[in-house]
Amino acid sequence: MSATAKKRAPMPDDLRAAKGGTPLVSLTAYTTPMAQMMDEHCDFVLVGDSVGMVLHGLPSTLGVTMDMMIMHGKAVARGLHSAMMVIDMPFGSYEESREQAFRNGAKLMAETHAGAVKLEGGVEMAETIRFLVARGVPVMAHIGLTPQSINTLGGYKVQGRGDAGAALLADAKAVAEAGAFAVVLEKVPQGLADEITAQIDIPTIGIGASAGCDGQILVVDDMLGLFTAFKAKFVKRYAHLADDGEAAIAAYAAEVRARSFPAAEHVFADEAPK
Ligand code: KIV
Repeated sequence: MSATAKKRAPMPDDLRAAKGGTPLVSLTAYTTPMAQMMDEHCDFVLVGDSVGMVLHGLPSTLGVTMDMMIMHGKAVARGLHSAMMVIDMPFGSYEESREQAFRNGAKLMAETHAGAVKLEGGVEMAETIRFLVARGVPVMAHIGLTPQSINTLGGYKVQGRGDAGAALLADAKAVAEAGAFAVVLEKVPQGLADEITAQIDIPTIGIGASAGCDGQILVVDDMLGLFTAFKAKFVKRYAHLADDGEAAIAAYAAEVRARSFPAAEHVFADEAPK
């Protein structure tokens, strides 16, 4: 996207219409400055519940709350003009009933101005997706490795291998048929991701899936090398900001200790009385 041609943010139907076309570009964001950096380059920006791990130091996404999502959603919204904002529904905010999901989905959209919510789950969430979409809450689905189910999945493993592929294809078909406008495929073997992409009529957004998906998403702190607690194999680091930042902090600390830190008389030399 060119920096000069300012466009309006796409809506869910625009993203749905991108099926089979130029791949959709997406990253996560949690703060205003990050959102500003990616606004011109992304079709949509996800306020992911990964915020709990990458910014708050939580061991998983399970401890993320509605209040955290709303606070980060508001911050990201201030930085976006051209990209659509999608916001994650946190663990425990939608699984209990369709009504609970609507109440919390509507709250996230009303308070953050997100264009859509994302929730995890396939066949078992289809009726909830249908209920939300019919009531004005556009839904992006998320299947494959669903980090909120990490305790029942038994780890951050590749999903859909062997016989499990048929169930994942059924999940993808169920969420598409229920009205989701796109579906994230996380940690799904390439052949299966390609098959799902070919068989459903909504865009697939890959993360550790296949370049053949209709779009890609990464956690921004992963691709910038800011989150270094661990690195999934599929993550490519486009920068090493944690290393650069630590080197900068070490240089600052050394200057302060050596009393070579720029002193006030240098900084204000021009203002000294003549
Ligand atoms: O929370 C998140 O960052 C996500 C992406 C990994 C898709 O759900």
